[in-house]
Amino acid sequence: MIGIVDFGSQYTQLIARRIRELGVKSEIIPYFALNTEKIKNYDALILSGSPASLSEKDFPRMDKKLLNLKIPILGICYGMQLISKIFGGKVEKGNIREYGEENIRIVKKTPLFDGIPQKNKVWMSHFEKVSSPPKGFKITSFSSNNLIASIENEKKKIYGVQFHPEVHHTDYGTKIFKNFLFKIAKVKRDWNLGKFIEEKISEIKKEVGDGKVIMAISGGVDSSVTLALIKKAIGNRIYPVFVNTGLVRDKDIEKIKILKNCIGIRIKVINAKKIFLKKLKGIIDPERKRKIIGREFINVFTNYAQNIKGITHLAQGTLYPDVIESAKIGSGSSKIKTHHNVGGLPEKLKFKLLEPLKFLFKDEVRIVGKKLSLPDEIILDHPFPGPGLAVRIIGEVNEKRLNILKRADRIIEEELKNEKIYYKVWQAFGILLPVKTVGVMGDKRTYENVIALRIVNSLDGMTANFSKIPWKTLNNISKRIVNEVNGVNRVVYDLTNKPPGTIEWE
Ligand code: XMP
Repeated sequence: MIGIVDFGSQYTQLIARRIRELGVKSEIIPYFALNTEKIKNYDALILSGSPASLSEKDFPRMDKKLLNLKIPILGICYGMQLISKIFGGKVEKGNIREYGEENIRIVKKTPLFDGIPQKNKVWMSHFEKVSSPPKGFKITSFSSNNLIASIENEKKKIYGVQFHPEVHHTDYGTKIFKNFLFKIAKVKRDWNLGKFIEEKISEIKKEVGDGKVIMAISGGVDSSVTLALIKKAIGNRIYPVFVNTGLVRDKDIEKIKILKNCIGIRIKVINAKKIFLKKLKGIIDPERKRKIIGREFINVFTNYAQNIKGITHLAQGTLYPDVIESAKIGSGSSKIKTHHNVGGLPEKLKFKLLEPLKFLFKDEVRIVGKKLSLPDEIILDHPFPGPGLAVRIIGEVNEKRLNILKRADRIIEEELKNEKIYYKVWQAFGILLPVKTVGVMGDKRTYENVIALRIVNSLDGMTANFSKIPWKTLNNISKRIVNEVNGVNRVVYDLTNKPPGTIEWE
């Protein structure tokens, strides 16, 4: 097992993901928790980057004797600087800040760079630099600014890179990890997401004990996979609840039925449409909509949860990108949207949280879902926001406008599925605008609503590009919506990337 020593980098989980992808088990351990006992669990260590600086008085550090145990070590960015400082090298604030893509030049043969061209592209993000390596260490590459980009001490099996091999902008990042794992640390490729499932099941069993777990499900991939995993671990002591806010599509209700049959579990459905629509009456401001829906959801769910005796845990289908987004909110950087599925419930209910997928990325969750035999309709379906269609109806949400959007949405999905495009894009949906425009149908003037079409490609929802859909498909969607959906006479296509746009309009 690889120990990933975390010094607080935003990329630590990405390092773990790269190691997983290479079929090796890893564990993230905070730098202050590593000691001579713990270190015996690891075949090699990777030291992460850090937002901290070595010039701070209390910089995060490691005991030198942990570095001298001859277990292979790869220090990344701050990790390399820390190694240099501990062994007596010189680390200073640079006058050049290297941030973003950089080219490095390999100047010494090293197993870490085996099979990598002498000049290659990497991702840098640092201000401090190693200006002189410690005794016994050799420089293995320079950046194009002639800063030291990597060092090694082959005898001690310690390697350092100033750049980030975990970020996909580093062309040979995976190759560097492969070299470190299989040529230097000589570990075996014997871990996969199947093992992840086994490990999680036994963790959940241990954590829940004789308790009971409640969770809200949406029919989406994250909550479905979480449910399937927990059901496998503790059987019928999981109590799934689907709150029908009335802001969902018909297919979400269908998906709950599919889930019920394929997991073999009872699911409590609470019909709360009336109350949600009542609370949303006359509300136009997007943040107010989100807050009202979030609050009402918590009320409905809490009332139900408090009626079941003996609940000890609340499960949530949180994924790693949700953790990053909510951390951002917590650390005071600007809040873009109030996300409906993070926060709120746990504080109110005081149950212990169970988030078995917390460190996985969406594509990994889909693989886990597949291994748990969930059908493609569930695991491959597009993400759907917690506040549902309410954030896709710009202006007031009411039954009539919901019906218009639902019909348009169905057409968009059908056409994209016909053209085998649906599963190739990240999301595809309609937005109902609070605008009427003039048209002509059957020689008659019309004055009706506009549907905006949003189709995006993305890896994790954090950035996105609008999809370059064939004109023919766009034409079919537009024609069918205008012909088949009463109350719509115009369709427009959204050409905005994220950033600067967001995926949802509200
Ligand atoms: P934005 O609109 O912020 O959306 O670019 C990024 C991704 O998150 C989804 N989204 C949500 N998901 N609860 C969720 O579970 C929410 O409140 C929420 N708001 C947006 C959105 O559909 C996209 O995939």
